[in-house]
Amino acid sequence: MRTVETVAELRAVVAAWRRDGQRIGFVPTMGNLHAGHFSLVRQARESADRVVASIFVNPSQFGPNEDFDRYPRTPESDAEGLIVAGCDLLFLPTVDEMYPLGVEHRVHMDVPSLTGILCGASRPGHFDGVCSVVSRLFNQVQPDAAVFGQKDYQQLAILRHMARDLAFPIDIQGAPTQREADGLAMSSRNQYLTPEQRALAPLIQQTLHWLAGQVAAGKVIAGSVQAARQRLTDAGFDVDYVEVRRADLAAATDNAMEERVALAAAKLGCTRLIDNLLFVPAL
Ligand code: PAF
Repeated sequence: MRTVETVAELRAVVAAWRRDGQRIGFVPTMGNLHAGHFSLVRQARESADRVVASIFVNPSQFGPNEDFDRYPRTPESDAEGLIVAGCDLLFLPTVDEMYPLGVEHRVHMDVPSLTGILCGASRPGHFDGVCSVVSRLFNQVQPDAAVFGQKDYQQLAILRHMARDLAFPIDIQGAPTQREADGLAMSSRNQYLTPEQRALAPLIQQTLHWLAGQVAAGKVIAGSVQAARQRLTDAGFDVDYVEVRRADLAAATDNAMEERVALAAAKLGCTRLIDNLLFVPAL
């Protein structure tokens, strides 16, 4: 695996592959890679001849009181894991390379129906930053396919919308959430949890399963959501949201039988965890 730090080097390598008619897969990350990220690389490999991964802790998607400074940076072990997973090229840009005019002078991006709800409601500007960096990376790498984890369900929906609206000729693929043995969704932030918090954390996924079961059985969504929220609060979570929405993230009505997604975000101490569960209500 080759590592490059500038857009010029990245473009030169990718252009040579393209001249050979090779298909390019891309996995953008913020590093501190775990099995979930490596599964994205393996998925990209399945539909591409070459796989590019980027590691960039993107300042524009962190709020002023969030964990940008303490976000774990582990480039050496990340690179080792990427080689094993089958990555061909690692793009490791600096902030200046990514934001040549300065982060504060960047173009802002918004998807009105999607960026203000769920995580966007409590993390203003977060998805603006995500779209800003991913659109840059798309222009720099120019991949045929890009793979994102379904754990960040709202992010995936927004990036699909962005790619379609801005005519990026890129197949945006979602990859299944990778989980620990007890059901906790893999995340770089799990390592912030104390042993006591780590033991509690799988309750998010268990609660989403319970909630989906209630809704699938025909219970009123609002009451079930409230009960799910209470369950997490009673266990010690600081709940940001628990919601049931249509799979496209539009508001769900009680009676439709189309695919739904149950989503939750909650903090244990300072650590914010998110998870989701797709399900289809029964007849
Ligand atoms: O999901 C992430 O790790 C980040 O939001 C992404 C897509 C790499 C953009 O910084």
